[in-house]
Amino acid sequence: MAGRLAGKIALVTGTAGGQGRAAALLFAAEGAKVIGCDLKVDNDRETVEMVKANGGEMVSMTPTDLSNEDQVKALIDFAVESYGDFDIVYNNASAARGAPVDELTLENWMFALNNELTNLFLMNKHVLPVFKRKGGGVILNTASIAGIVGAGTPGNAPVHFAHNITKAGVIRMSQHLAIEYSPWNIRVNSISPGVILTPATGFWVDALGEDSFTDLLLIKRLGQPEDIAKAALFLVSDDASYITGTDLVVDGGWVASGGVGQPDPEISSKFASILETYRAAAPSGSAAS
Ligand SMILES: NC(=O)c1ccc[n+]([C@@H]2O[C@H](COP(=O)([O-])OP(=O)(O)OC[C@H]3O[C@@H](n4cnc5c(N)ncnc54)[C@H](O)[C@@H]3O)[C@@H](O)[C@H]2O)c1
Repeated sequence: MAGRLAGKIALVTGTAGGQGRAAALLFAAEGAKVIGCDLKVDNDRETVEMVKANGGEMVSMTPTDLSNEDQVKALIDFAVESYGDFDIVYNNASAARGAPVDELTLENWMFALNNELTNLFLMNKHVLPVFKRKGGGVILNTASIAGIVGAGTPGNAPVHFAHNITKAGVIRMSQHLAIEYSPWNIRVNSISPGVILTPATGFWVDALGEDSFTDLLLIKRLGQPEDIAKAALFLVSDDASYITGTDLVVDGGWVASGGVGQPDPEISSKFASILETYRAAAPSGSAAS
């Protein structure tokens, strides 16, 4: 199949729904053979059927628990047995349990570490022999704006303590690996989605209302899984062959605006009324001639 990933083999994690499903569909449509995996068996089977219905190629290993080292190794073996040594690994799957720090149990803290950091450590570690054998490869790890700015929630509600820390860790993990893996011709980047409407976030939007999220953005709509899949496609494709060790923020402007969104007309007009004073306060003689 022709396309931007023609002839490539791509391992994508967390393909049962959301961004992983969107990536599986897009990567396959762009010519890649896709290997998926997820804990959720039925939903993941649906993704495989959708890819095949679109004329693409995909196999998947379910259930796979990526926080378990033996299962990660089995997934890599499954991928190589299915299509041969792969070119691309898109580490999309993760899960956390939210709470403010004083309410966070050790069990839920460990859950976040295991399912947002340990899973990526294991995947990034065990794909290395394949890429060494192949003479190179591409890794894309999924971080989040939660690892970059504020509390990662409307109103800075402090419910993401563990998640914010793990996602910041994903960005640094990816930068580190870009360096460590560079001698083997392996590019490593991360992607930081903003608020994307998926099975993981639908209930947040239902509970808080869409405006609670779009008010924080420069582009006034919720992100869709396809917005992330398209950015991921770019980063894993040869179009990004000179990009490594970077984090691509895809968030409708949440981070750039500091989570404050478009200019507030009321506050802007108050500023307009004091601009003359502001200009007069500037030192004289500094105007450009
Ligand atoms: N949706 C958002 O607004 C948003 C924002 C920032 C970052 N992200 C990140 O994007 C990625 C995808 O998010 P999504 O919204 O599509 O989530 P999602 O919950 O819809 O999909 C994630 C998938 O990963 C699977 N998974 C989780 N832990 C796993 C494990 N240990 N082993 C195997 N599979 C496992 C889940 O079963 C699920 O199908 C995640 O890394 C998430 O943290 C999402």
